[in-house]
Amino acid sequence: MHEPFNIVGLNGSNSIGVANGLFCKPIENADELNLNGRLLTPGFVDCHTHLVWAGSRADEYVQRCAGVDYLQIAKQGGGILKTMQQTRSATINELAESVIARAETMLKNGTTTIEIKASYGLSLEASKKELDAVQRAKQSIRQNVIVTFMGAHAFPPEMNSENYMRLLEQELIPMAADHPVGVKFNDCFCEQTAFNLHQTRKVMQAGIQHGLTPKVHADEFNVLGAVELACEMGAASCDHLLASGSRQFQTLAKSNTAAVVLPCTAFYLNKPYANARAMIDAGCVVALGTDYNPGTSMIGSMTFAFGLAVNKMRLSPHEALIAATENAAKALRVESGKIEPGFPADFCIWPCANLDELAYQFVHIQPESVYIKGERVV
Ligand code: NIG
Ligand code: FE
Repeated sequence: MHEPFNIVGLNGSNSIGVANGLFCKPIENADELNLNGRLLTPGFVDCHTHLVWAGSRADEYVQRCAGVDYLQIAKQGGGILKTMQQTRSATINELAESVIARAETMLKNGTTTIEIKASYGLSLEASKKELDAVQRAKQSIRQNVIVTFMGAHAFPPEMNSENYMRLLEQELIPMAADHPVGVKFNDCFCEQTAFNLHQTRKVMQAGIQHGLTPKVHADEFNVLGAVELACEMGAASCDHLLASGSRQFQTLAKSNTAAVVLPCTAFYLNKPYANARAMIDAGCVVALGTDYNPGTSMIGSMTFAFGLAVNKMRLSPHEALIAATENAAKALRVESGKIEPGFPADFCIWPCANLDELAYQFVHIQPESVYIKGERVV
């Protein structure tokens, strides 16, 4: 007999002593796993990344560290528009290769499901290229991939906002909805420097008309009413929520919309963290993501996001794990992390004995092995 497995489950129980053999056959004829007292968790679900981009924003990062504001840099033509130029100049293959490399890093850090936003093209041709790149990358990526279109990330410099809104509604969103990669969500950045509330509503409506469920970057810097709008429109999630308060939390708690918090972004921008503790206490479904992107979070490790949620947001390790797995899956409207006898599960085995150790060692620890659909991939 092996030791009982030390499993952290998704159904609320912290450490389930599971009878020997539960994971012995995640798939037909799989080898037995002897956990030897090591921690097993569901694979992480990263429900918010902007994985498709080219180039670097290291210069801005250093400026920001010296005190220049993110929105200030954006106003000077840096920020998202700089990545737009670099992404437009890249080939499908270059984009696909970089997505594959980033996904590989994420896998080594325990992420078994990735949401990928195509968010930097901001033209018909470049947005299509991003989606083509994701489609190509998917052939090599071992994780489950969920694709989100985010043409409403910024206004491109070559046209006025009215014309870009028209392009989004009439060409970009329909193209994305029909793209063979299989786009599921339509995201919009509702912010002073990006899309106002009225425009955000129109973007969401256009997506819904084409079968895409809305998501929204809400209250990242300023509270503009995006949370209330998103809940009303049945969005799958509101993401960031750094500036939100109890009103927004109550609205989210009453809705079917997940509250996605991105502590890596706050860490990277040196900003205060979203009040995830209050969100949970208000009854919100709080999910975690990395926001992996070249501007505000050059961080693809969900282990790091999990550790920050404990260290900076006062979530218990168990709450942070639920946020990084079960609730993140809800934010993507997917089934995930189901760990049941016979079910080909996504899970990680860690070189530590329990979840407190994982939270404590979060900066360096990596899973010893990662399984996707019952198959060992790391
Ligand atoms: O999630 N908020 C908008 N979008 C990204 C930032 C993208 C960028 O700076 O390139 C975010 O933080
Ligand atoms: Fe984002």
